[in-house]
Amino acid sequence: MLRNTDSSYGWAAIALHWLMALAVFGLFGLGLYMVDLTYYDPWYRDSLALHKSIGVLLALVWTLRLLWRLLNPTPRDLSGSRVQALGAHAAHVLLYAMMLALFVSGYLISTADGRAIEVFNWFSVPSTLTGDNQEDLAGMVHEWLAWGLIALVALHALAALKHHFVDRDATLKRMITVIKQEQKP
Ligand code: HEM
Ligand code: HEM
Repeated sequence: MLRNTDSSYGWAAIALHWLMALAVFGLFGLGLYMVDLTYYDPWYRDSLALHKSIGVLLALVWTLRLLWRLLNPTPRDLSGSRVQALGAHAAHVLLYAMMLALFVSGYLISTADGRAIEVFNWFSVPSTLTGDNQEDLAGMVHEWLAWGLIALVALHALAALKHHFVDRDATLKRMITVIKQEQKP
């Protein structure tokens, strides 16, 4: 089952969720590592090029995921409480928004000097806006957003674990595997 239903996620949403989670954690770790390198480190240029290339590809996957989400039903909340359901929805919207803001600020840092972003020598994303302190400003915003996103993801993961171990419902299970509709007796 590729598509979502009212009660479960389909394979496409599950695969996109975990692929993107892996990429976000990877970009966060790589980002922190690479800004500490000096010009003389052999990885100085390549790590930045890798961060930018994966970042641009992730932005494309993000677009696909959002479209997929809008074209599919969202499985209903299992907590049964309206406040919790609203909180979960708000957190998911914020997760999407923070990822988008990271792509935009990352793009603005990388292209502030008028240079395009080379994505794995495959295609390039041209520069549009350039400004005197654009690089510093976007860099500061990018760093704060990255920490903010990771903090929200930590909360999000804790909420998923609470569903699993405290409420003992299928919230986490249905993001790991497709749950077939219950058979009617
Ligand atoms: C979810 C996506 C992303 C995450 C989690 C992320 C995370 C990070 C982190 C943690 C840093 C280090 C910040 C610091 O300590 O100064 C960083 C730096 C950087 N990121 Fe990203 N990033 C993402 C996407 C992107 C994208 C899409 C681009 C460009 C297309 C990009 C370009 C850069 C650049 C150029 C730097 C170096 C900034 C500097 O030298 O101060 N990032 N990123
Ligand atoms: C960078 C990491 C992550 C990001 C950006 C992220 C983002 C999201 C988003 C946007 C949704 C909403 C559903 C959708 O639009 O497809 C979602 C759902 C979900 N996520 Fe994550 N997630 C991350 C990591 C995790 C981790 C580590 C866990 C578990 C420990 C987790 C468990 C879940 C569960 C169980 C759902 C389904 C919630 C429901 O059915 O109401 N996520 N995630």
